[in-house]
Amino acid sequence: MFADKEKCKRCGACAAECPYDLIVEDREGFPKLRFAAKKMCIACGHCVAVCPTGALSLPDLPVAPELTPEQCGVFGRDLRISPEQADQFLSGRRSIRSYKEKCIPESVVEELLDVAAFAPSAKNGQPAQWVVTRTPEATRRLAELTVEFMAINNVFPGVIKNWEKGFDKILHGAPHVALAHAPEDGFNPAEDCSLSAAYLELAAHSRGIGACWAGFLMEAAEGYHPIRERLGLPEGHGIYAALMLGYPKFKYKRIPRRRKVALKWLD
Ligand SMILES: Cc1cc2nc3c(=O)[nH]c(=O)nc-3n(C[C@H](O)[C@H](O)[C@H](O)COP(=O)(O)O)c2cc1C
Repeated sequence: MFADKEKCKRCGACAAECPYDLIVEDREGFPKLRFAAKKMCIACGHCVAVCPTGALSLPDLPVAPELTPEQCGVFGRDLRISPEQADQFLSGRRSIRSYKEKCIPESVVEELLDVAAFAPSAKNGQPAQWVVTRTPEATRRLAELTVEFMAINNVFPGVIKNWEKGFDKILHGAPHVALAHAPEDGFNPAEDCSLSAAYLELAAHSRGIGACWAGFLMEAAEGYHPIRERLGLPEGHGIYAALMLGYPKFKYKRIPRRRKVALKWLD
């Protein structure tokens, strides 16, 4: 069953919000799924989530199993944040480059990744898959392989020199690094993985966990087979994001300035 006619108020929100126009009215004005939904539904769940009376359930479809209102998260009014809180939260996030020698519990990392799964993705593809180092040793090994890549390719001599002197300018001694990979022939893997990583970083920030994009590692992982091998990447997958993760050693008391945004209003 799609619409529970006892509960449905025929408000039309489900049809209006469906990204692929897969919901039409039946003779009585109740929503019904078009046959094409079997092939075209992207299982975004918007119809179920937007219904004000909880009247809709998505049936089992090839793309995803049944979704009922009860399976959806509930919007807690008490948990809403003010614009001021949101602005401070977002502008107060910093890339962290000094970490405590303390690992993040695995359950917390998994919680962060669960939040990251809510990032927008093209056609709701949610293609990002993750490799996360469990230990500082595993993290350091990836930094070491990155230095190897730099030495072979004669790039970033300063970073190599620092490494030799005991300073890790690649992963900054973070206890963990999380890498997002996805099939290269997907719809928008780079955007999807970057957005997931942005969500991961913000979810971490909300829990007092620091993060920093690991650009050097990403570049090395792209071109250096030993890193791909170490990560156990499936054939045809690219790495589209890498984030150091750990507890920050220092607290930021101020929010630095950013350039005034370049904006042109178009009429
Ligand atoms: C794609 C990308 C790659 C980055 N790579 C590195 C990196 O390899 N090392 C590093 O220390 N910071 C890296 N950063 C962090 C930026 O330097 C940082 O976001 C910028 O300086 C602004 O600081 P904020 O994030 O604290 O606002 C990277 C950021 C992005 C988005």
